Amino acid sequence: MKICVFPSAEQMSKAGQELILRELKEDPSLALGGATGNTPKLLYGLLAQAAESGQLDLSQRQIWFLDEYFGKDMYYKYAINFLHNKFPKGKGIAVKNIHVPNGMYYFESQIVHSEILDEVLKKNRDDYEMKGPEVLIKPGAKHPFLKQLRKDTKTYEKSLPLERVQILGIGREGHIGFNEVGTSDKSRTHLTVLADSTVEANAEDFEDGIVTRYAITQGSGSIMKAYLPILFANGVKKTEAVHGLLIGDNPASVLRKHPNTHVFITGDTLGEFKSADLDKLRKKYEVTGL
Ligand code: PGA
Repeated sequence: MKICVFPSAEQMSKAGQELILRELKEDPSLALGGATGNTPKLLYGLLAQAAESGQLDLSQRQIWFLDEYFGKDMYYKYAINFLHNKFPKGKGIAVKNIHVPNGMYYFESQIVHSEILDEVLKKNRDDYEMKGPEVLIKPGAKHPFLKQLRKDTKTYEKSLPLERVQILGIGREGHIGFNEVGTSDKSRTHLTVLADSTVEANAEDFEDGIVTRYAITQGSGSIMKAYLPILFANGVKKTEAVHGLLIGDNPASVLRKHPNTHVFITGDTLGEFKSADLDKLRKKYEVTGL
């Protein structure tokens, strides 16, 4: 694992842009793995700038996003906005090459929202099992849309290229994608119950008045298969999560087992890290900027 500490979110994102440009230049078939949320917006802006100045052309690349809210297509719209619309014409990722887990299901001609899913799950207990927050739909599931959901998550998982640079943010309790506390490190793309803290932190995503308590997410195991995971975090709100990632135990700490993980953070995010812990980090990993 490599840990790079920067004075500001701008410098952190610039370093991310440079790393991604280098990687893409080296391998014309390398894909991207996208994250949503606020953290990577600066990075996407810098990638669009690189395309403006002729340094980058993503028109032949593919991107696989981490997750989507159940009953919404919000992250699909985010993906198109930041990786296609905000790029100069013909230089962004083609819409057909932007992949986001499907969150929109219809049952009896209605969008299946969170409360309907609650009902379906209550009435069809034999169709799934719970493993922490993971809702694992069984191979023999009978309910039509649960069956379809299982099929879609399997297809998404299979389509994920190993050769991808996986951009990651981190949630306040340490989630990557929507792998909440209690998710198995080996999980694959699945339906999950969101943590209360996630629903609270992402309140602005529900300004349409429809709160969802479920999401479809790549699993921690799916993320670990990516050739190069780069996690970005800045600001004191992420201090606890970053401590968990670097020395503690939270969903993101699985990334310590990946030899090529890059952690790009700002100094303020480290907070009150004890100097003995910093020494341990320096001994164990490649650390710059500290
Ligand atoms: P944020 O979200 O970048 O908006 O802070 C990160 C996450 O929840 O993974």
